[in-house]
Amino acid sequence: MKVEKAVIPAAGFGTRFLPFTKAMPKEMLPIIDKPTIHFVVEEAVNSGIDDILIITGKGKHSIENYFDRNSELEAFLEKKGKAHQIQPLRDIEEMAHIHYIRQKEQKGLAHAISCAEKHVSGEPFAVLLGDNIIHGEPPCTRQLVDEHLRTGKTVVAVEEKPGDQLHRYGVVDGTPLGERSLLVTGVVEKPPPGTAPSNLVSNGRYVFSPEIFDCIRNAPAGAGGEYQITDAMKPLVEKREVVAYKYAGERWYDTGDKVAYVIANIEFALRHDEHREELSEYLRELAKRL
Ligand code: G1P
Repeated sequence: MKVEKAVIPAAGFGTRFLPFTKAMPKEMLPIIDKPTIHFVVEEAVNSGIDDILIITGKGKHSIENYFDRNSELEAFLEKKGKAHQIQPLRDIEEMAHIHYIRQKEQKGLAHAISCAEKHVSGEPFAVLLGDNIIHGEPPCTRQLVDEHLRTGKTVVAVEEKPGDQLHRYGVVDGTPLGERSLLVTGVVEKPPPGTAPSNLVSNGRYVFSPEIFDCIRNAPAGAGGEYQITDAMKPLVEKREVVAYKYAGERWYDTGDKVAYVIANIEFALRHDEHREELSEYLRELAKRL
């Protein structure tokens, strides 16, 4: 069945980025001049999905404002002879059909995803976590959609990480299925150091079959009363209905992590013709001092 809808959970408090997140959503943290969530919406659109549901919560209005028209700003640009700046802003509004729903309580990622049940109405759907940027072509979500079309199963994108980082992620274990895919036999969210069953971690991109909603309903609450999507997936894993896909991509930036966020800014700036030379010069100088 085709995958025509994407869900972007963006309801969390973003405590790792306090104090910034006291007043601004972490999904609005900029990579140079675009908020993180812009890249995430772009990935869905470039994967052929333009019906996007963003799960928001209290204090997330700036996300809606970002994808909406700003007539005052447009009038101002027109008056100041900067009308050429208007179309790029309109392109953002026209990029996708974006819907919003609010998660009323902070009850974890699985609970946030469950808020999408009515909207996706019994169809398979993609989930893209709002604080991860995956750079590469074809987009990671496109690769998952294709794997879903091949197998009909729930698909989780995975990447290998070194042993000392596994405790930060959802880790999957499985048996080889295809060149890049594994049939998942076990999942564990943030395993204590030294206990991970493999070095394959979930990077925050999924295609779920709609059965996930029943699984979320029946899942036990995890640490802190929050419902984790990794735990909710366990019944599907037991039924051998989940595939892990080692996506082909240039780079994953977990921008919820401070160092990864800084690295993403440097790397994206290096890709800009406007900034490359000046920044490279600075980095060469910096390297001498380190
Ligand atoms: C979430 C997921 C985790 C996944 C990670 C990717 O964790 O629960 O399974 O590996 O995103 O960034 P969080 O980063 O929200 O703690």
